[in-house]
Amino acid sequence: MTSEVIDGEMQFYIRARNFYKDVPATDEGMMGDFSDLSNIDIESSREFLRKFVGGPGKAGTDYALDCGSGIGRVSKHVLLPVFNTIELVDMTEPFLEEAQNYLEEEADKVETLYCYCLQDFIPTPRKYDVIWMQWVSGHLTDRDLLIFLLRCKNALKENGVIIIKDNVGRQGCRLDPLDSSVIRDIHVLRNIVERAGMAILAEERQRGFPELCVPIWMIAIQ
Ligand SMILES: C[S@@+](CC[C@H](N)C(=O)[O-])C[C@H]1O[C@@H](n2cnc3c(N)ncnc32)[C@H](O)[C@@H]1O
Repeated sequence: MTSEVIDGEMQFYIRARNFYKDVPATDEGMMGDFSDLSNIDIESSREFLRKFVGGPGKAGTDYALDCGSGIGRVSKHVLLPVFNTIELVDMTEPFLEEAQNYLEEEADKVETLYCYCLQDFIPTPRKYDVIWMQWVSGHLTDRDLLIFLLRCKNALKENGVIIIKDNVGRQGCRLDPLDSSVIRDIHVLRNIVERAGMAILAEERQRGFPELCVPIWMIAIQ
């Protein structure tokens, strides 16, 4: 449980906010030390997304929400080629400001940039076909992630899907003190999804990252 490793919820959130204040609004900033792996990450995300959108019984391609979007790296390369309209939500204002340049001519497909912490954000009910959360679920406590997933579930259209992509540890829950995030193991994540009353449609481990990296998983839920 996050409560066992974070040493105070308020500090956990404050430390993350302070960490991102010093992170540059660039691809490198979004990827930490692994910016050369951005293309591999994007390619796998696109492939994974294709399984759940555009076809009978699948999610539509109208609206997507990018949670913890940063400057919009996932929006630009994964979501914008597929969806008519996207929205971004992130707590770090300079990242959202940069998003408008970074997304270039596609920026006009962005309806709203929400500057919010996910723990306070309530997405509009029944609006989105896909809600993407990459490298941000670990910034929420178990309780806040559960509550946020419940809100996201309510924000999905028919056949809509939530995709969580994140670092997944080998056992239990561990704090990364550098950026104040938690790395959960797959059982803890599955348990939170289950408690949100959602089902896992597919899980896939990101391939092509160095062995020394924490494993990254993509999990589609509904
Ligand atoms: C590692 S970056 C990933 C950005 C983007 N998802 C990507 O893959 O390129 C994490 C992002 O999550 C945002 N973030 C961290 N904690 C957050 C929170 N509690 N609410 C909203 N955004 C948060 C940070 O501002 C940062 O933009």
